[in-house]
Amino acid sequence: MATTLITGASSGIGKELACQFAAGGDDLVLVARSEDKLNELAEQIRNKREVAATVLSGDLSTVQGVDQVCSQLLQRGIKVDTLVNNAGIGALGKFAELSIERQTDMLMLNVVALTRLTRALLPGMIQRGRGGVLNVGSIAAYQAGPNMSVYYASKAYVLSFTEGLREELAGSGLHVTCLEPGPTESSFGEDSGMGKLDMFSSSTMSAAAVAKAGYEGYRANSDVVIPGWKNRLMVTSTGFLPRFATRKLVGKLQGV
Ligand SMILES: NC(=O)c1ccc[n+]([C@@H]2O[C@H](COP(=O)([O-])OP(=O)(O)OC[C@H]3O[C@@H](n4cnc5c(N)ncnc54)[C@H](OP(=O)(O)O)[C@@H]3O)[C@@H](O)[C@H]2O)c1
Repeated sequence: MATTLITGASSGIGKELACQFAAGGDDLVLVARSEDKLNELAEQIRNKREVAATVLSGDLSTVQGVDQVCSQLLQRGIKVDTLVNNAGIGALGKFAELSIERQTDMLMLNVVALTRLTRALLPGMIQRGRGGVLNVGSIAAYQAGPNMSVYYASKAYVLSFTEGLREELAGSGLHVTCLEPGPTESSFGEDSGMGKLDMFSSSTMSAAAVAKAGYEGYRANSDVVIPGWKNRLMVTSTGFLPRFATRKLVGKLQGV
């Protein structure tokens, strides 16, 4: 039996990814701050599937929070085969106007927690020769995002890190995949402020469809999964335009 740890499993894409991995027969470790929501999900999954579901609540925007999750895994003797780094936040607004606290939390969660968890769990996966890492990035990774500069930069890190890691692990038997969603129905739209933008609200996908594409892509060891033809078209066309043009376009769409 394999074990999958999913961060940000209390809602949205992470919750749906948990359902996908449970349907595939994996035991789960569910991580987020909202312990009540995680317990509810764990119970639903245990009732429906023959898998174990462990809840580890913690704040991954602090180094201590990440390290506590890792020490809980050690204490409970849980060996993680697949790490799904999904937890992430965004914030719409100009860099100089958004609070530095929010933007630091974003970097801690989207970048530092993802990196520390991967560093903590990867050696065991390499030793056992199985499992891998599914990182949740965004189509924001492919260009700069004026009025949301830190978020876009954090997702560029996720893509670059995942691709580098994939090459380092080639031939190891491990899977390394980056899931790059476009606008998706979840709490993210409201929480980040992006939900009020036409470019977001006019083309959302369901979190379940995004998670299914990510799960299947990870199982197939795809390098990058971009769910939805509109999102794939956008990323492909971005590749044909000079960077100054794509950042101007995104800036206009994001109210700069
Ligand atoms: N929705 C979109 O349009 C979209 C598009 C592209 C990429 N993405 C990416 O998809 C991922 C999942 O987002 P989502 O759309 O599913 O949004 P969501 O519904 O808001 O889920 C975010 C998850 O992250 C957890 N989280 C937030 N802060 C945390 C913290 N400090 N410590 C631990 N967990 C924390 C939340 O749980 P708690 O609040 O319980 O901690 C929640 O489970 C993110 O990385 C996001 O950047 C989303």
